[in-house]
Amino acid sequence: MKFLITGGAGYIGSTVVSALEDAGHTPVILDSLVTGRVEFTCGKIFYQGDIADPVLLKQIFSEHPDIHAVLHCAALIVVPESVEMPYEYYRENVAKSNEMFHILNELGCKRIVFSSSAAIYDNVENFMVTESAPLAPGSPYARTKFIMEMVLQDTCKAYGMKGIALRYFNPIGTDPKYRSGIHVKNPSHVLGKLVDTALGKQEAFTITGVNWPTRDGSGIRDYIHVWDLAAAHVKALTEFDQVFERADNPEDNYLVINLGSGKGVTVFELVEAFERVFGQKIKTQVADPRPGDVAGAYANGDRAKALLNWQANLSIDEGIRSALEWGKIRGKILPYP
Ligand SMILES: NC(=O)c1ccc[n+]([C@@H]2O[C@H](COP(=O)([O-])OP(=O)(O)OC[C@H]3O[C@@H](n4cnc5c(N)ncnc54)[C@H](O)[C@@H]3O)[C@@H](O)[C@H]2O)c1
Repeated sequence: MKFLITGGAGYIGSTVVSALEDAGHTPVILDSLVTGRVEFTCGKIFYQGDIADPVLLKQIFSEHPDIHAVLHCAALIVVPESVEMPYEYYRENVAKSNEMFHILNELGCKRIVFSSSAAIYDNVENFMVTESAPLAPGSPYARTKFIMEMVLQDTCKAYGMKGIALRYFNPIGTDPKYRSGIHVKNPSHVLGKLVDTALGKQEAFTITGVNWPTRDGSGIRDYIHVWDLAAAHVKALTEFDQVFERADNPEDNYLVINLGSGKGVTVFELVEAFERVFGQKIKTQVADPRPGDVAGAYANGDRAKALLNWQANLSIDEGIRSALEWGKIRGKILPYP
C-alpha cells in the first residue's frame, strides 16, 4: 500500500517511513526540510515543499493516485521556541495544516492520521491519562496540536473524511537499523541532552524542575521507543478502515488514541536508567522549569490495544542504548556529529 508522509524527513516521520518499507509498503515523503534532513530521504520517493502548497499536493496525487492515507507529521516542535515565536507556530502548525486538510479533501484523500501530542493533557492526580482526560495545553506548541485535533474532528465530520489523532508521549531511541534518528544539532529532548552529556558535547545534564508534585519532584514522562511508535503507525495506516470498524464507526469520523508505554518514569529515574545503560555516572545540575514545561503524564494504553491491536514492547533501556549508539554514529549520515 502507498502512503503520503508529511514531515517524512524528520525524526518520527523518517522512522515510520522505514517501518512501512520494512513491512513492504511504499511511503511518499513530503517535507520542506525546514528542520528535517535530506539524508533521510535518500532512495525514497521524496517531494521537497510545503504542506500547504496546492500545486505540489495536486502533483503528488496525480503522480500517486493510489495513496491510501496520509500521515501528517510535519510541524515545528520546540516548546520554548513556540513561546518566543507563536506567530510562526500557529502559521506552520495550524493555518497550513488546515489548508492541507482542505486540499486533501478536494483531491479525494479521505484518510488522515495526525501526529498529536500528550503535551495537550492537563495535570491529573495520578499522572495516568486516558484519551478522555481533561486537556489544558500549556504552551503555544501544545495549543497548535490541540487546535489541530479540533480542526481535524470538525473537518472529518463536515466533509466525510476520517481522522485518527495519535497522541504521542515521549519518543526515544532510534530505528534498529540506524537509517535515521534525532537529527537536530542541539536536541531539546531530555534523552538527546543526556546523550550529548555522555558524549562530552555538553558539560552537564540539566534537570529542569525538581518541585513538581511527583514522587521525587522531577517531571514524569512516558518514554516510548520510536520503533514501537512507528509500528503503531503502520497499524493505523494499513488497517485504517478496520480501526474505525473496531471503534464501531463513530459518528464524527474521528478517533483519538494514546501512544505511550503505559509506564511513568521521572527524570531522576531516567538519569538512573541512563547511567545503568551507559555504565558511568552523568554530571547533572538542577534548574528552573523552561517556559511551557509541565509536570507530565503517562499513557493509559487500553484504547491503542483495542483499536490498533498494539502495545509497546521495547524497554526504556533499549531506547537509551539505541539513542547512545545513534549519537555515536550519526556523523556518518549527517554533516555534523
Ligand atoms: N518528537 C517528539 O517528542 C514528539 C512528541 C509528540 C508529538 N510529536 C509530533 O510528531 C511530529 C514529528 O515530530 P518530530 O520529532 O519527527 O519532528 P521533526 O522536526 O524531526 O520533524 C518534523 C518535520 O516536518 C517538516 N516540516 C515542518 N513544517 C513543514 C511544512 N510547513 N511543510 C513541509 N514540511 C514541514 C520538517 O522539515 C521536519 O522534517 C510533529 O507533528 C510533532 O508535533 C513529536
